[in-house]
Amino acid sequence: MRGARILGTGRALPSRVVTNAELTTMMDTSEEWIVQRTGIRERRFVDPGTGASDLGVQAARAAIERAGLVPQDIQFIVFATLSPDLFFPGSGVFVQEKLGLDTIGALDVRTQCTGFIYGLSVAEAYVKAGFYDHVLVIGAEVQSTGLDMSTAGRDVSVLFGDGGGAVIVGPTEPGKGILSTHLHSEGKYARELMVEAPASIENPRISKEMIDARRHLGTMNGRSVFIHATRRFPEVIREALAENGMTVSDLSIVIPHQANLRITQAVTKALGVPAEKVFSNIEKYGNTTAASVPIALDECVEQGRIREGDVVCLAAFGSGFTWASSLIRW
Ligand code: UT7
Repeated sequence: MRGARILGTGRALPSRVVTNAELTTMMDTSEEWIVQRTGIRERRFVDPGTGASDLGVQAARAAIERAGLVPQDIQFIVFATLSPDLFFPGSGVFVQEKLGLDTIGALDVRTQCTGFIYGLSVAEAYVKAGFYDHVLVIGAEVQSTGLDMSTAGRDVSVLFGDGGGAVIVGPTEPGKGILSTHLHSEGKYARELMVEAPASIENPRISKEMIDARRHLGTMNGRSVFIHATRRFPEVIREALAENGMTVSDLSIVIPHQANLRITQAVTKALGVPAEKVFSNIEKYGNTTAASVPIALDECVEQGRIREGDVVCLAAFGSGFTWASSLIRW
């Protein structure tokens, strides 16, 4: 079977910067609390009317160009997001239309923080199996329209930001590129990090009462997320290394989902890798859920932190709970 590799990366960040100081004008919080507990200094919010597909398309155009391709070369779209433009259809079809592509397939992935890695695994499998030669994988989120910006929601809202990232996956020689991907879930914790409405188990799916009770805004058991994340991140990274007969000393760089700086620091310690081998940009963008890994990957490539032959590990944990890793020989 042939291999699958990342041919190009791209990102899109809204121009509007929202600092911690700005958040203190909306809710009872402090710059110090946010920086100490999360490492976040600022995040980006979209202007009204911008959807996840808009950020996705912008990131996709950059990735297509980096890969030396044109949009018409793309044969399949995978779009990972928890914040699709509409409840349905998914955002992938909007990307198909906005990029002016022929009637290619477009699949939305709904695994939140791990969405990009789950999506990458789909592209990897299709390319390795010879179904497609160029698959576009996007992770993009508009979180800002779903945050409770009152003091009641401060434990969640200070964490999240908007953004998009994309990669193009194409064929390579066997044993190069994406070596393996590892996907997990544990639905008994589904309610630890969720948005309850609109929901098909409710009739109507959304009502004034539900909105008054703020059930359309995300809620999180932060401590539980923290405990499980700091266990699952190292576990799934070690799983990827073991599968490929490697150890942590083989890693050139780890690109974790940017959930929280304290989680990243705990994972770095648990793995026993030098801090400079674990990428972090959360101070600039906050937690952008499915977008965080491809945004970070694109910054690493741009900064020359990934060179040919490097062993790169992508890893994520989040709502579901789901967790995942992907080991890549660049
Ligand atoms: O992709 C996955 C996304 N989720 C995560 O990564 C979150 C993982 N969890 C965490 O990172 C942490 O649990 C948080 C950063 C969310 C919270 O940190 P914590 O140390 O677990 O704080 P806490 O929830 O125990 O709250 C401590 C105090 C509370 O006040 P009292 O009860 O001690 O008086 C909170 O009400 O901090 C208060 N608090 C805040 N204060 C100022 C909660 N949010 C804020 C805030 N500003 N934004």
